[in-house]
Amino acid sequence: MDTTHARLERSAREHLLLHFARNGRPGRDTPPLLVLERGEGPYVYDTLGRRHIDALSSLFCSQLGYGYGAEMAEVAREQLERLPFNTNWSTAHPPAIELAERLAELSPGRLSHAFFTSGGSESVEAAWKIVRQYHVAHGRPERTKVIARRIAYHGVTLGALSLTGVEPMKAPFGPPAIPVRHVSTTNPFRAPDAGDEAAFCRRLLAEVDAAIVEEGPDTVAMIIAEPVQNAGGCLTPPAGYWAGLREIADRHGALLVADEVICGFGRLGEWFGSQRFGAEPDLVTVAKGLTSAYAPMGAVLVADHVAAPLYEDGRMLLHGVTFGGHPVSAAIALRNLEIFERDGVLENVRALEGHLQGRLEELRRLPIVGDVRGAGFFWAVEMVKDAANTPLDAEERERLLRGFLPGRLLEAGLIARADDRGDAVLQIAPPLISDAALLDDVVDAMADVLADAGTFLGLEAPRAVGVA
Ligand SMILES: Cc1ncc(COP(=O)(O)O)c(C=O)c1O
Repeated sequence: MDTTHARLERSAREHLLLHFARNGRPGRDTPPLLVLERGEGPYVYDTLGRRHIDALSSLFCSQLGYGYGAEMAEVAREQLERLPFNTNWSTAHPPAIELAERLAELSPGRLSHAFFTSGGSESVEAAWKIVRQYHVAHGRPERTKVIARRIAYHGVTLGALSLTGVEPMKAPFGPPAIPVRHVSTTNPFRAPDAGDEAAFCRRLLAEVDAAIVEEGPDTVAMIIAEPVQNAGGCLTPPAGYWAGLREIADRHGALLVADEVICGFGRLGEWFGSQRFGAEPDLVTVAKGLTSAYAPMGAVLVADHVAAPLYEDGRMLLHGVTFGGHPVSAAIALRNLEIFERDGVLENVRALEGHLQGRLEELRRLPIVGDVRGAGFFWAVEMVKDAANTPLDAEERERLLRGFLPGRLLEAGLIARADDRGDAVLQIAPPLISDAALLDDVVDAMADVLADAGTFLGLEAPRAVGVA
C-alpha cells in the first residue's frame, strides 16, 4: 500500500471536512477518498499514481486544464512583487480596473460595470444586493421577491441558498432569507409538449408570467436563471425562452439575472452563455472559469441602468467583500482571457461541439441511457430503468449513484458527475482545451461505465440507436 496516500487519507478523515460529501469512513455508501496531487493538460493524477481524465474540469472550473501553471505562476509572481494585495473598498488597483474594462468589452449588451467577489455564491449574493438597491433607489422597496427555477443551484450562502431550488439542501436551514417562487425548468424530456418547441416555450413562459402575477408584480425584484441549467442535467432553453424572460421582466418591472457561474467563459463556446441564446440580462453572475480556477475569483456584471443609482451623489453601494477583486486573481483572470484568445479556446469548443454531441448520441443504444442533452462542452446523460424511460427510484439512485458509479468511474480513470438533484444523470464538462481524441476517450469510458451500470441494475436489451 502507498503509505503517503494512506497517511493523507487518514489525516483527511481526521481534519478535513469535505464539502457536500459524506465524511464517514469508506464503505458501502462512501467511496475511498481520491487525493489529487498533480495535473497535466486535461488529466489529474492521484496519490496512488493513477491518471484520471478530468471530464468535469474540477467542478466546471478548469477551462484551460492544468497545463498553464508556469505561465500563471509568472503572472502571480509579478503581481505579488508589485502589490500582493489591496482591496476594492474605496481604493482600486490596476488589475481590477483593467479586468473590469475587459469584461465590459466582452460581455453582452450594456453590462459595463463589474463588482468582484471571491466566488459564485458571493456573486449571486452581491447581485441580489445590487438589485435591491436599484429598486430602493427607484422608490420601490416593496420589490423583495425572486423568481427562480426548480432544482437550480445558485450557491450556499443564505441569500443564494434561498434562490437555489434543491429542497433537501435547504431544509435544515429554516425559512429562506429571500422570498422566492420556483418555476419549472426547461427540461423537455418527458414533457408532453416537447415535440412542439414553440408550444413548450410558450407554456414555460406563461408559467413564469402567472407566477409573477400571483405573487403581485409590484413585489417581484428579479428573475434568475442559468443559460443552461446545471442541476437536473444540462437543461438547455427552447428557442425564444430568453427573449420571453426579457419581455416578462420588462413588462413587470423586474430585473433579469443570468447566473453564468458555469456557463460563462467558453463552456458553451461563447464568452457568455447569454450570447448563445440571445439573452439580454440586466446582471450576470460569474466565477469558476473567469480565472480557469488558477486563482479564486467571481464577479457580477451590471448593466448601466442598474448601476446608475450607485453612481449618484450621496448614495453608496452597501456591499463589500475583503478579497473581492484580489489583485493576484485579477491579474490571473486577465491572462486567462488573453490565453482564450491566443490559443483559440472558444474556437476549439465550437469546432468540436458537434463531434462530442455525435459521440454522446451513440450512447443512446445502451439500455440505461434515456436522454442525452447539453451544449458546448457541457453534457448530461440521463439514466433510466427501461425503454419507457421510467426514472430510477430513490433506492436505485442510491445504489447506483452512491454505491456503484463512484468506484466504477475511478476504475475507468474518468472524473464525471453522477448527480440526482433532479433525475439521475451522468454529467461531463471537459476542459475547453480538449481535442477530439480526448473527447473520444471520455465518451468511450462513459460507454463502458454506463454499460456496466445497466448490468448492475439488471437492464439488458440494447436499444435501437435514436430511440429516445
Ligand atoms: C450556477 C451556479 N451558481 C452559483 C454557484 C456557487 O458558486 P461557488 O461554489 O463558487 O460559491 C454555483 C456553483 O457551482 C453554480 O453552479
